[in-house]
Amino acid sequence: MKIQIKSSLNLALKANCLVVAIKPAKKLGTQQSELNTLTGGLLNRLQEAGQFSAKQGELTCVPAPEGLNAKQLILLGVGSEKKLDAQTVREISDKLASSFKAADVEDATLELSALVAKSDIETVARHTAEAITDSQYKYLKQPKAANDTKPKKEFKLTLCCADRKQIAAAKKGSAVGLAIGNGKTLAKNLGNMPGNVCTPTFLANQAKKLAKSHGLKVKVLNEKEMSDLGMGSLLSVSKGSREPAKLIVMEYKGAKNKKEAPHALVGKGLTFDAGGISLKPAGKMDEMKYDMCGAASVFGALLAAAELELPINVVGVVPSSENLPDGIANKPGDVVTSMSGQTIEILNTDAEGRLILCDALTYTERFKPQTVIDIATLTGAVIVALGHQTAGVMGNDQGVVDDLISAGDTSLDHAWQLPIKDTYKKQLKSDYADLANIGTPGAGTITAACFLSHFTEKFRWAHLDIAGTAWGGSAGKRATGRAVPVLTQYLIDRC
Ligand code: BES
Ligand code: MN
Ligand code: ZN
Repeated sequence: MKIQIKSSLNLALKANCLVVAIKPAKKLGTQQSELNTLTGGLLNRLQEAGQFSAKQGELTCVPAPEGLNAKQLILLGVGSEKKLDAQTVREISDKLASSFKAADVEDATLELSALVAKSDIETVARHTAEAITDSQYKYLKQPKAANDTKPKKEFKLTLCCADRKQIAAAKKGSAVGLAIGNGKTLAKNLGNMPGNVCTPTFLANQAKKLAKSHGLKVKVLNEKEMSDLGMGSLLSVSKGSREPAKLIVMEYKGAKNKKEAPHALVGKGLTFDAGGISLKPAGKMDEMKYDMCGAASVFGALLAAAELELPINVVGVVPSSENLPDGIANKPGDVVTSMSGQTIEILNTDAEGRLILCDALTYTERFKPQTVIDIATLTGAVIVALGHQTAGVMGNDQGVVDDLISAGDTSLDHAWQLPIKDTYKKQLKSDYADLANIGTPGAGTITAACFLSHFTEKFRWAHLDIAGTAWGGSAGKRATGRAVPVLTQYLIDRC
C-alpha cells in the first residue's frame, strides 16, 4: 500500500473514491455544509430519506456524486463521540476496509477527522492503515513463497488531516499501521500454507529471504549442529519425522550501538503437529499446520521492526520441526536430556512445543538479551480459558508481563495474565527425570508455562500462548497474523 498524507481536504478534488467521516449532528459542521452545498443538498436529502444518519459504522455509497469530481463518494457514520475509543475506530475502519475490498476500490482519499475523539489522529491513521492492509490480504492457492501473495495492484491511500499540525502524527500512525499490516500479511501467508509446503526447511529459506530483503543477519542450525550443542529435547521431537529440524536465528540490529543487548523473540515453529505416538484425533487435525504461528509472528514482527527502522536490536529464534508418529519417534516414558542439562520424562508426545522451545530458550542465553518473549500455540487449554479473543501471558518478571499487556491494549491485540506460582510447578514432578513434560490434570496452560520457566531463569521472560488467537474464531479456518501487533508494539515501546 502507498500512503500519502495531506494537510486538508479539497472536496472538489479529482478522486477515485472519496470518503468523508460524518458525526451525527442536528446542524451540519463546516465541512459537512460545504459538502452539502457542493452536491446540491445531498446530505439533507439522504437524511430526509432516512438513508444516512451517521450511525456508528454506517456506510452510504454515492456513485458519480453531482457537483464533485470524485468517481464515488462514501459517507462514513462515526456514531456517538462518547463511544469513539480506539477499538470502535478500528471496528469502523474494518467496515470501511471491507467495503473497499467488496467494491474493488484500490485508490481512496479519506477525511477522517470526525473519528478523532477519544483517540488522536495518530491512532486513527494507524488503525485505518492496518485495517486496509488486513482486508486487502488474499491467500493465493499454492504460492511458491510467502511473498508470492502480494495483491496485483497496490492500494493507494490518501489521508487528509484537519490541519498541518496533524501531518506528522498521521504519518507516524499510518507508517506503524502499515508496517504491522505487512508483518501480519507475512505471518498469515506462512500460517495458511499447507504443512507439505511449509516445512522447517521452507521456513529456514523464508528467513534467508527476509534477511536479504530487510537487512537482517540470519543463521540456520542443522540437526548435527544442534546435536553438538546438546539439544536432546528438541531433536527428540524431530526424530519421528523425515523433515530435518532447523533452528533459525535472525538478528535485526537497529540500535546505534550494535553491541547493545537485544530483545529476543522465540517462536514455536511446529510446521505440523500430529501429536506423535500420543496421536491426536482425526477431526480438525489439519489445523495443526498452524502450529508454527508463533514462529510466523516472529517473522512478521521482525519485518515490521525493520520497516519502521526501530532503533533497537532484536533477535528472533525459531525452533522448527514436525511432530509425527514413527518407528523411532518419541514414546511416552522416554527420558531425554535438554541443552540445559535438565532431564525430561516425556509422558505425552503431544506436549512437544515445550520440548523444542526449552532448548531454543537455553540457546537464547548466548545473546545476553534484555528481555525474552516466547510466542507459541502451546495449549488447547488456553482456548478454554480465554477463547479466540485474548492470548494468555505468563512470565518470571512482572514488568515484562505488564509491558506486554499494555502493548496488547495499544495494538488491540490483547493478552491476559495467568498466574505461574510454585504450587503449579509441583504438578510437573517426575519419578524418572528432573521434569515431566505434562502436568497432573488442571491448569494446562499454566503448567506448560511452568515447564518453560525451568529454562528461563537466566533472563527476564514472558510467554504468550496464542493457540486461541493465531487462527480460527471469527477468522474461520484462517491465520489471523496475531501476535504481530502486540510484539511490534512491545518493540516500539522499548525504543
Ligand atoms: N499445538 C498443540 C496445542 C493446540 C491444541 C493448539 C489445539 C490449538 C488447538 C500442542 O502441541 C498440544 O498438543 N498441546 C497439548 C498438551 C497436552 C498434551 C498436555 C494440548 O493442549 O492438548
Ligand atoms: Mn502437540
Ligand atoms: Zn503443538
